Amino acid sequence: MNKDYIHEFQNKLLDWYDENRRILPWREEPSAYKVWISEIMLQQTRVDTVIPYFLKFMEDIPSIFTLANISEDKLLKLWEGLGYYSRAKNLKKAAQVLLEEYNGQMPSDKKDLQSLPGIGPYTSGAIASIAFGQKEPAMDGNVLRIVSRITVNTGDIKNRKVKADIEQIVIDVLPENRVGDFNQALMDLGATICIPNGAPKCSICPLSGFCEGHNKGIAETLPVKTAKKKRNIEKKTIFVLNYGDQFALKRRPNKGLLSKLWEYPNVDGFATEKDVRLLMKSWGFLTGSLLELNNSKHLFSHIEWHMKAYYIKVEAVQRDNDFVWASKKEIKEKYSIPTAFKEYTKWVQHLEEHQGQAI
Ligand code: ADE
Repeated sequence: MNKDYIHEFQNKLLDWYDENRRILPWREEPSAYKVWISEIMLQQTRVDTVIPYFLKFMEDIPSIFTLANISEDKLLKLWEGLGYYSRAKNLKKAAQVLLEEYNGQMPSDKKDLQSLPGIGPYTSGAIASIAFGQKEPAMDGNVLRIVSRITVNTGDIKNRKVKADIEQIVIDVLPENRVGDFNQALMDLGATICIPNGAPKCSICPLSGFCEGHNKGIAETLPVKTAKKKRNIEKKTIFVLNYGDQFALKRRPNKGLLSKLWEYPNVDGFATEKDVRLLMKSWGFLTGSLLELNNSKHLFSHIEWHMKAYYIKVEAVQRDNDFVWASKKEIKEKYSIPTAFKEYTKWVQHLEEHQGQAI
């Protein structure tokens, strides 16, 4: 690629960004801390979803020091509904390392950044370039898609060699100045113009003149993706156990999926009403009315939960158990219950409206 060509490419993209960039809270008065938190939240998560979480996070945890000292339960509550909760746990761990080893400051070097929990090649490139102006690429799905279309790379973008080839092209076109804007321009272009599903908006794309995929009329067919693996299905039965004005919750194990978050008691498989009565007896509950709730599904990256659920009025607790009993207010304000259970949390919060349903 010759120099004039590269300059023109950079100017077209940066001029477009100046006119069309999205106004986002982490871009206003940016700090390394804001860039870090936003980039972690934006992993696997849409900008629109992240914005309210980011604003609340900055209000409640405005500094690395506060983050290092926040209780994990409070942090998980703030993260409730955002998914991939290990991101939150790693943020706290990383903040503690920053206090101990970096004087409470974010490092600017990509290698140092990558030594922190939760920060990989993409995030370190994004922080180094956006917060510190370092000439580093930030290779995410948007960038891989855009460049595979521009260069008509028909390889699988999951393949390491294909990724490395595309990264080298991006490194070759990074500008000396405004590298953070350049990387964010690619992100915005990928989100608004060179979109993943459906036809890219080539007629208004600042890079269409450079895009071989567009010239050949095949941009939409790129990148080539191999079929995704099928998710395993897990069946579960969820119990909304109501005793007085409280509801039973249980903490999930310390390791694995949704670790340390809270859930409604549940068992594997679909239980019949008869199974449920026996189970409740074995848990030491004297039960009153029982109502079958709506089924629901939740998709994780590699498994699906298919859930059946019962609302059960508990008349008496005849034995100690390891459930925690929480009020509606505590469910709302204190316990972090993942989105997988949203149907049932919603149901609990609107319980009065269901009183007519034979409860
Ligand atoms: N996606 C990931 N990082 C982003 C950023 N800084 N701006 C917009 N979208 C993003």
